Amino acid sequence: MSWFPDRMTEAGPTEMDEGVRLERRSLLKASAGALALLSLGWPQRALAQEPAVDDDADLAWDALAAAALPLAEKLVRAKKPREEVYLARLAALVHRLKLPGDRDSLAVKRPIVVAQFKLEPGRGFPWHDHRDYNGLILCVAGEARVRSADILGGNPRPPKGRTFQLRETADVRLTAGRASGLTRTRDNVHDVRGAGRDGARLLDFFTFFDAGGRSVSMTVADKPRDPEQRVYEATFVE
Ligand SMILES: [Fe+2]
Repeated sequence: MSWFPDRMTEAGPTEMDEGVRLERRSLLKASAGALALLSLGWPQRALAQEPAVDDDADLAWDALAAAALPLAEKLVRAKKPREEVYLARLAALVHRLKLPGDRDSLAVKRPIVVAQFKLEPGRGFPWHDHRDYNGLILCVAGEARVRSADILGGNPRPPKGRTFQLRETADVRLTAGRASGLTRTRDNVHDVRGAGRDGARLLDFFTFFDAGGRSVSMTVADKPRDPEQRVYEATFVE
């Protein structure tokens, strides 16, 4: 069963699974402010050259969308995409975001897709990969546990049912204001759950190198085969 984007057809709110709620997600329709910013073109060029990462003022959603979009477009067009640089710049913008009101849509264009989730404690997105897209998760409220891993062995997409090895690279607790990122080649696999007493509200920024980008779930052994190296056995479910 793949999580994304197959199961995110609605704009939200939608119960995606028990304890997993899609609260809202970016729609192709852009708000008047974003359209004006996007169509003007100037701010994009100015921001694209040196996005205001050195400025720490709050950013309204439209300004963030206008600053992030040229970075994302440049990234997915690049011959040698510098994903870490991109994620660091995106994170610098996202950390300044003044979260729009509950009713406001998260207007942004592809290759960026944004979704807001509410995860109950212990519930969320079990181990899965990210094919042809990268991601940045911002914890908006509550607490989330994010375990990240790399697939070992050189083949990032072993066929269904074939056992392969994961190396866990991080097991973090995200609280409000903290973020966790992944690229197509670094920490591309993770397990995201609500934690603590109230679970978590997360804002997920996905950037697609290919419109067909998606995630595939895997089963991962509970116990590591190499505790010291944090290596686990896993298999893809499709
Ligand atoms: Fe994910």
